[in-house]
Amino acid sequence: MNKTRVLTGITTTGTPHLGNYVGAIKPAIAASQDPNVQSFYFLADLHALIKCQDPKRVEQSRLEIAATWLALGLDTDNAIFYRQSDIPEIPELTWMLSCVCAKGLMNRAHAYKAAVGDNEIAGSQDPDKGITMGLFGYPVLMAADILMFNAHKVPVGRDQIQHIEMARDMAGRFNHLYKGQFFTQPEAVVDEKMEVLNGLDGRKMSKSYNNTIPLFVSEKKLQKLVRKIKTNSLEPGEPKDPDTCTLFQIYSAFATVEETAELRREYENGIGWGVAKDRVFEYLNAHLREPRERYQALMEDPGHIEQVLAKGAERARSEAAPFMDRLREAAGLGRFI
Ligand code: TRP
Repeated sequence: MNKTRVLTGITTTGTPHLGNYVGAIKPAIAASQDPNVQSFYFLADLHALIKCQDPKRVEQSRLEIAATWLALGLDTDNAIFYRQSDIPEIPELTWMLSCVCAKGLMNRAHAYKAAVGDNEIAGSQDPDKGITMGLFGYPVLMAADILMFNAHKVPVGRDQIQHIEMARDMAGRFNHLYKGQFFTQPEAVVDEKMEVLNGLDGRKMSKSYNNTIPLFVSEKKLQKLVRKIKTNSLEPGEPKDPDTCTLFQIYSAFATVEETAELRREYENGIGWGVAKDRVFEYLNAHLREPRERYQALMEDPGHIEQVLAKGAERARSEAAPFMDRLREAAGLGRFI
């Protein structure tokens, strides 16, 4: 039976936080355990260069993200787990797709339009000020990531749907132009129920708001951060609304249905914020302790991570290389004999 191919990339610029875990890592690891699925998960480090030109940061983030996924239990015998920059076929395909992709399509990409909008607001003479070709062509690289492995399903956040549509467009043009069914049309999968965690200040947990709780900080730091989560000024004894409370939301993303119902009752009974925070900290800490230990061991053994990624790259390239040969040939770049 042909397995459904599920593929997603993680841009390697930040340190993984609770929001990443709940929204992306946990569902991805669960999906990869389905025997009807072949999953492809990769570190989008070429994408990282668009946003981050600090080599140390790029390097560190790649290591942290790889260690995080492994510590949280990704089975790499099952999922194909690799680093984008280890697959030279991807930038090659990016170029081929660039040559069939209308520039006008890229003009409409959200990230590019937002950057132009910022320039306009700042009153800049040049609407493209500070915008690189990397940012402009970002969706083409992403299309190459997806089309290279003929992914059927691409789990992404809502902000990425447009990029998948663009990948479909490029796939169609290439197939049409070179008269073949080279590429499968990928589909974005946006989980409506997917939890978007709030951060310390109550806005969406995001590196750009600087309000995250990193997954594997020390116990002490975790406690400090949980204590910093914004709550209101209700006193102990006064009933509290769990449904508008970030602390409660974070707890319920980890806890079972029963545990969540129990805390809900305590909110109604007027649990004090200090007690509630300690409770949430204890809970998170108990659940993160083991993966945190695995994470630390992995971070101290980058050689092992390298080996895992090398194996993933080898598996990925065993598909990408022959496929790229076919594509080259289709475009007239095959060998003479
Ligand atoms: N652009 C995606 C993001 O920022 C990351 C990414 C890169 C990706 N290549 C991909 C996601 C391919 C899905 C498929 O979240």
